[in-house]
Amino acid sequence: MTSLVRLPGLIDPHVHLRDPGATHKEDFLTGTRAALAGGITLVLDMPNNPGAPVISPEALAAKEAAARGRIVCDVGLFYGASAGNTGTYEQVADKVVGLKLYLDHTTGDLKVEELEAIREIMLAWPREKPLCVHAEDRTVAMVLGLVASVGRGVHFCHVSEQVEIELIREAKERGLPVTCEVTPHHLYLTEEDLPRLQGYGVMRPPLKRASDRDALWANLGVIDMIATDHAPHTIEEKRGEKPAFGVPGLETSLPLMLTAVHRGRLSLDRLVEMMYSAPARIFRLGTKPQPETYIEVDLEHRWTIATERLHSKCGWTPFEGMGVTGALETVVLRGQTVVENGEIKAEPGVGIVIAPSD
Ligand code: NCD
Ligand code: ZN
Ligand code: ZN
Ligand code: ZN
Repeated sequence: MTSLVRLPGLIDPHVHLRDPGATHKEDFLTGTRAALAGGITLVLDMPNNPGAPVISPEALAAKEAAARGRIVCDVGLFYGASAGNTGTYEQVADKVVGLKLYLDHTTGDLKVEELEAIREIMLAWPREKPLCVHAEDRTVAMVLGLVASVGRGVHFCHVSEQVEIELIREAKERGLPVTCEVTPHHLYLTEEDLPRLQGYGVMRPPLKRASDRDALWANLGVIDMIATDHAPHTIEEKRGEKPAFGVPGLETSLPLMLTAVHRGRLSLDRLVEMMYSAPARIFRLGTKPQPETYIEVDLEHRWTIATERLHSKCGWTPFEGMGVTGALETVVLRGQTVVENGEIKAEPGVGIVIAPSD
């Protein structure tokens, strides 16, 4: 019995590859290798680089330069909103996949506090370009209010709790232009895993109650896409008194979602919608963003997630020891086989930095 199926190269709309600025955690080569190992051929990289936030045209150019010649999958870049940089939007809008606005405390210090500044950012960013927000709990409600009054669309990153997904469902039902993503860690882990995971279970938004996780599954139809929020930190940074926020996820997302397919919680078509079609559409990456690009997965291959099989520089996973059903076999990027029998063959530079206006 063959259980090998061909799917499009997957798109991860939310990663932190840490390059430049924190390449001891991850860099463009290790991060894009991890992506390929997870069946992901296009990642959208967030602007909160520690020490090198992408909030100026110069910082954007520096990140592009750091990626060029080193990446093994395609990368799209986000620009960061800050209280004083709306005047630069015109220069950068065509070069990035969207603007990222941080409204709650997390890694880096890109948080925008003032309501007046938040409104100005929402008005200044081109209306047809995606605006992604890190908003948690009541901040989600604030953003929904602004969406209604300002009249522009917003994409909610890493929705993690029941009230958030229900508010977003109701906003959609009322016709507000909102979309959202959920991470595999919020679908598979809860605060009950914290005693076991310790610092390795610390991220923003935090792990929630089992009832929140269940509400995400119950509202799968409201979730536009799966995003890993791949946020690697070193083991030392996770072991201390104040663990850094974030977990890696590029290599575990597809097997975890294939496991949901195997258990009958999700159809394979819906997986492709959430991990390819919806991000391509919502981030305006084109109907066929990567020609001659596909992956092959073995739907019946059972294996156990273990750090020694992974490629991220950080060297750990919150899913260590978890049994999954579904494995990546092959990745073909623009006609070139870059993963064969699960082994990465790609040479640095086979990936490109995409410009969505192309
Ligand atoms: C992210 C990071 O480390 O860059 N951390 C996290 O816990 N998710 C930032 C973010 O996405 O909020
Ligand atoms: Zn965030
Ligand atoms: Zn993030
Ligand atoms: Zn089976």
